[in-house]
This record gives sequence, structure tokens and C-alpha cells, in this order.
Amino acid sequence: MFLTLEGIDGCGKTTQARLLSERLRRSGTACGDVVWTKEPGGWTGGDKIRELVLRDGLEHPLSELFLFLADRCEHVLQVIAPALKEGKTVICERYTDSTLAYQSWGRGLPMERIEDLFRWCGFPSPDLTIWIDLPAPAAYHRMAGRGRMDRLEEEGTVFLEKVRSGFAFLAERDRARIVRIDGDKDIPGISAEIIDTVLAFLSRRGKERDC
Ligand code: TYD
Repeated sequence: MFLTLEGIDGCGKTTQARLLSERLRRSGTACGDVVWTKEPGGWTGGDKIRELVLRDGLEHPLSELFLFLADRCEHVLQVIAPALKEGKTVICERYTDSTLAYQSWGRGLPMERIEDLFRWCGFPSPDLTIWIDLPAPAAYHRMAGRGRMDRLEEEGTVFLEKVRSGFAFLAERDRARIVRIDGDKDIPGISAEIIDTVLAFLSRRGKERDC
């Protein structure tokens, strides 16, 4: 099973990915064999691309796009595809929807071209995507409390609202895959909703007993 977690910066993905991984691992069953990873940078050597793409200095939106794609090519080849082949549950923070939301809706690059590149790269499609939705001002407030921001985080709330509308568009378009969770609640409440969503998905696939 390939699960992705998406949302704007500061929406709480990492906390929720950790809680979901712990819940599935505790089940002690097949779907508890979890690989928890993230983009950008979730493969050996990925730190260098991550550093390059998130620090100051990039000016061309296409160089940003291609760095995220290069990162994903290695991540899929080295981490995601092997884990899926071994029947593991992959939980990935950010994936193709982030590229569409940030580089197309945020930066204005054409979505069809980006989706052509996804097909060309042969990226596997997630089975289920959880979109943790939070208004940009609330997310920005959380990030400001965390200290230093990276290049994309510094873009501010107008940029993040554009990205958020990208996620909203995708959730509407790919309704069978993407589930919106209200991120403006407490951590246990959000976690319970995510776990229910994942278990409901597994049950539709006839695998709930395993978890
Ligand atoms: P990160 O520190 O990992 O943020 P978060 O914890 O919120 O995921 O930074 C990742 C940044 O990269 C984030 O601002 C979103 C951005 N990003 C893109 O713009 N396009 C992409 O394809 C991906 C994977 C991430």
C-alpha cells in the first residue's frame, strides 16, 4: 500500500505521519511493515538535493521543478518501488500532488506539462492520499513559532493560499484517491480521522483484518 500525506507547510504532516506509522506498526500485521519517508531528500544522498532546492539562490521555476523531479526519480527507484515490491506499507510525506500544488498552482507552471513528466518518469501513483487542509494564516503562524524558515516557507501566506487552492482542485478532481482532513483541530482528533480513513480504505480492499 502506497500512502501519501500532503498539505501546505505547517499543516502538521510529520506529526500525523509518525502517529499513523506507529498505529500501523502496533498492529503487528502485514500492513504494519511500514516504511516512513519524505520528499524532498528521502533517499541516501537526498540531503544534497534537499539543501539545494530549499536554500536561497534558485531563480528559475523550472530548475526548482527539475530538482524536485530528480529527487523523486531517485526516491522512487531506491526507496519507494523496492519497498512496495516487498509488500511493505509506504507512508510518504509529500509526493506528486506537492509538485502540482507548489510548482503549478504556486509558481504558475502548466499542470499538463508537469503531469506528462510524471508519466515519463514512471512515478507510481499513490493508493490513498491524505490532504491535511489548513488555512494559510494558521499554518504560517505555526511555522513562525518554529523559528527559521526555508525559501518556500518564506514565500508567505498569499503563495501558500495559492498552493492550498491547488490541493483543493486536486482533491476535487481525484476524489477517489485524495481525502481531505480538516487540519484545524487538535492532534489526536486529526490522527483519529486519518486512521479511520486508512482503515476504511483497507476494509474496501478487504484487508482490514490485517490491521
Ligand atoms: P520541508 O521542510 O520538507 O517542509 P514540510 O515539512 O512542510 O514538508 O520542505 C519541503 C518544501 O518543498 C515545502 O515548502 C514544499 C516544497 N515542495 C515543492 O515545492 N514541490 C515538491 O514537489 C515537493 C516534494 C516539495
